[in-house]
Amino acid sequence: MCGIVGYVGVRQAAPILLEGLSKLEYRGYDSAGIAVRDENSEHVEVVKAKGRLRNLMQMTDSGNAVRGCCGIGHTRWATHGEPSAVNAHPHYSKEKRVVVVHNGIIENYQDIKDMLRRKGYVFSTQTDTEAAALLLDSYYTEPGRSSLSPRERALGAIRDMMIRVRGSYALGILFGDQPGVIYAARKDSPLILGCCEGEMEGHMIASDVPAVLQYTRKVVYIDNLEIACLTREEMHVYNIDCEEIEKPVAEIRWDAAAAEKDGYEHFMMKEIHEQPRAVRDTLSPRIKEAEDGTRSIDLSETSLTDDDLRAVSRILLIGCGSAYHVGMAERYVIEKLSRVPCEVELASEFRYRDPILAQNCLAVIVSQSGETADSLAALRLCKERGVRTLAVVNVVGSSIAREADAVMYTWAGPEISVATTKAYSTQLAALYLLAVKLAAVRGSIDAAREQALIGELLALPEKIERILGDKERLQWFANKMAASKDVFFIGRGLDYAISLEGSLKLKEISYIHSEAYAAGELKHGTISLVEEGVMVVGVATQPELFEKVVSNLVEVRSRGAYLFGLTTYGQYAIEDTVNFTVYVPRTDPLFATSLAVVPLQLLAYYISCAKGLDVDKPRNLAKSVTVE
Ligand code: F6R
Repeated sequence: MCGIVGYVGVRQAAPILLEGLSKLEYRGYDSAGIAVRDENSEHVEVVKAKGRLRNLMQMTDSGNAVRGCCGIGHTRWATHGEPSAVNAHPHYSKEKRVVVVHNGIIENYQDIKDMLRRKGYVFSTQTDTEAAALLLDSYYTEPGRSSLSPRERALGAIRDMMIRVRGSYALGILFGDQPGVIYAARKDSPLILGCCEGEMEGHMIASDVPAVLQYTRKVVYIDNLEIACLTREEMHVYNIDCEEIEKPVAEIRWDAAAAEKDGYEHFMMKEIHEQPRAVRDTLSPRIKEAEDGTRSIDLSETSLTDDDLRAVSRILLIGCGSAYHVGMAERYVIEKLSRVPCEVELASEFRYRDPILAQNCLAVIVSQSGETADSLAALRLCKERGVRTLAVVNVVGSSIAREADAVMYTWAGPEISVATTKAYSTQLAALYLLAVKLAAVRGSIDAAREQALIGELLALPEKIERILGDKERLQWFANKMAASKDVFFIGRGLDYAISLEGSLKLKEISYIHSEAYAAGELKHGTISLVEEGVMVVGVATQPELFEKVVSNLVEVRSRGAYLFGLTTYGQYAIEDTVNFTVYVPRTDPLFATSLAVVPLQLLAYYISCAKGLDVDKPRNLAKSVTVE
């Protein structure tokens, strides 16, 4: 979604804003803009450009042409109004009295516009944000406020605007008559403050950590309905009643290099290769070894006691996109091992069907960003209904992590590529731990099985490394596949869950139409789409379902399909049926998703490269979907 950066301090702001925005490029956007205030000038200068950030950089000589030490910047992912320079942020009122950048959606913007038009305001864009900017202007210029100090006036106006607007927002705000001051506010859209020292001395605002990492690792997380006021020397945070509140300063553990490409051509390839490390970091600290060599899973960080786990009567696995696919896979694992019934829920649908939530449910919200609007809303609904919530989240301090009753962090590190890879793999790993732990405390597996499963988990990173060591064959095959128009992924049981993720990866970065089907469902309709040359990927990692998947592959082959088989070493019979085979190392079949997904990620990656597409920033997509 959109990105926000702001800086006030001793340095020129524009180059810092552009550099910060470039670190948010991965979130996807269609236009960008900055507003900078030179302390010696009367006005805020605003520059906006449609398209990539380089357009804005060219217009401003990489920021050097815009003077001033205080400014805000924005990359926009259009929701209301087409992508254009006019609709790009910042938006402002007459004479740039109030200048605003905004992430999120103002739901009642039409009502606000109508009300403001009646007061004589004129709108020049199609955006919802302009309604917030002009509303703020109307409160800021109210005659009754003229006797207040500039800060009181600004805080009061921002508070009134926050009360009046519905929707989600992170806002960066400049007031034309307050040089050297940035205000910020948030509701349901991420926002952090950065504290810069030394030659950068000053303060920053940003919608995501990578934008500030180069300048500081000291950040303050702004909570819902809080307002911040930043100057070069000071940072103040207020609640919605404009009372000042204390906020702890947190230290970011990622360093800036973690968000660089590290010699890889694309972030996606770098992140695919980081999976062994990321999975190891997610598993190892939670597996403890006793003196006698027996291992056990320690989830004490979640504050879920063994008694709590024994009392769980049902598990809800909730997420969007790939996080939902993690739930699809984990349902099989959790149910098989612990016999606790699981439901997998699309977060975007969850709250609209008035779900029946029993008291002893455990709702597990899976999210890389921790900011996905639908997942956050599902979490809140569960909490409202008294259901205990566990977040499986990658971004430390994100909204979902902070609002859930308990958190299990996935230690993937910053994921920049829009298509998730390492975060998905670490989510799987984290939930395997929950599944084995649940099964062990409930006695549905014995000690020997528990030890064997833990041993298999610890072996996963090395097996992923082996798959990565043999990727050239896939590159060759991907070049052949790049001309495909339609690709079907089929599998049964866990292999269906893997197919869903493989298909999503392919379509999002290669733009090839693709569907995943439970293999047995094909002949109930979809097989009519199979004709000469259509590519079908058959996933067959589950020994007891192997023959059934192969016979589904035979069905499509006899209709002309070209077949890619994905299975484990030892299942060589598949070669009699398919045109091309990829084998992954053997593991416990319950954990096969972690291995089988890797060739599918590589396949999508190589096809995207072969088609010359923007792998890390596929069209129309955004990394963190903070609007409904
Ligand atoms: C696909 C992808 C998305 C995300 C989804 C949820 O590659 O990245 O489908 O999985 O938008 O995002 P998070 O995990 O941040 O809640």
